[in-house]
Amino acid sequence: MEIYTNKHKITAAISALKSKNLSVGMVPTMGALHQGHLQLVIKALNENDIAVVSIFVNPTQFDNASDLDKYPRTLDKDVRLLETVSKTQIMVYAPTVDDIYEGNTVSKSFDFDGLEFEMEGKFRHGHFDGVGTIVKRFFDIVKPHKAYFGEKDFQQLQIIKKLVEKYLIPVQIVGCKIHREANGLAMSSRNMRLEPEYKDAAPFIYKTLQTAREKFGTKSATKVSEWVEHQFKTNNLLELEYFLVADVDTLKPVKRKSNKKKYRAFIAVYAGEIRLIDNIALN
Ligand code: PAF
Repeated sequence: MEIYTNKHKITAAISALKSKNLSVGMVPTMGALHQGHLQLVIKALNENDIAVVSIFVNPTQFDNASDLDKYPRTLDKDVRLLETVSKTQIMVYAPTVDDIYEGNTVSKSFDFDGLEFEMEGKFRHGHFDGVGTIVKRFFDIVKPHKAYFGEKDFQQLQIIKKLVEKYLIPVQIVGCKIHREANGLAMSSRNMRLEPEYKDAAPFIYKTLQTAREKFGTKSATKVSEWVEHQFKTNNLLELEYFLVADVDTLKPVKRKSNKKKYRAFIAVYAGEIRLIDNIALN
């Protein structure tokens, strides 16, 4: 498997493949790969000739220095895992910070029509400017036909669709279903940092989302939110940061339900020091 660390080299290699009419799907990641990522790669390979997997812990999307420091970096293991999917059709782009930011590690400022101010945007300042900066950079370097993102980061997925629409970037964004552990916990690179007691406690998050979805059939969003808040008050390991029901297009909290709109419930929870997010489609 070819591992590229230099943007000019990977751009040249990909343009040579594209000149042979091969299609390219991209899976941007921050590494510490798990089965959820592999599902994205498998989908990319089902729909394209080549999958480019970027592995880069992007400093500009972290608002917390210790979170950035502690983010797992496991390149060799990641490559071995990717090789279980394909040794010939996957290219890895694992750049240095300098290769991407050229000595100026700052994000650009984006207007995502307000999507960036909801939920994660309220709790992680500058996060979506960092995500927009790196994903736009990747699309400039790799120029994929399609790019694959998990719905666990549903707000990020909507923001990337907006980025592509606003900047007229010729790439199709494909959203992929959340991949879960057998106990329901949404797969995340952060799960590997959970202490055992928190790992046991964390499936409560998805169980609560499932019951919230049932309740949303007959109750208002406010009542459902109150119920969820109460569930977490009685849980002494998990600390709720936010729960809300939002319109999938605007990501604004729902005030009054409408049959014409699609809603999702979104949640962020601290399991000790580890922040976990999840979401569920409600209708
Ligand atoms: O979802 C992620 O892993 C990251 O936010 C992404 C899209 C790779 C950008 O760094």
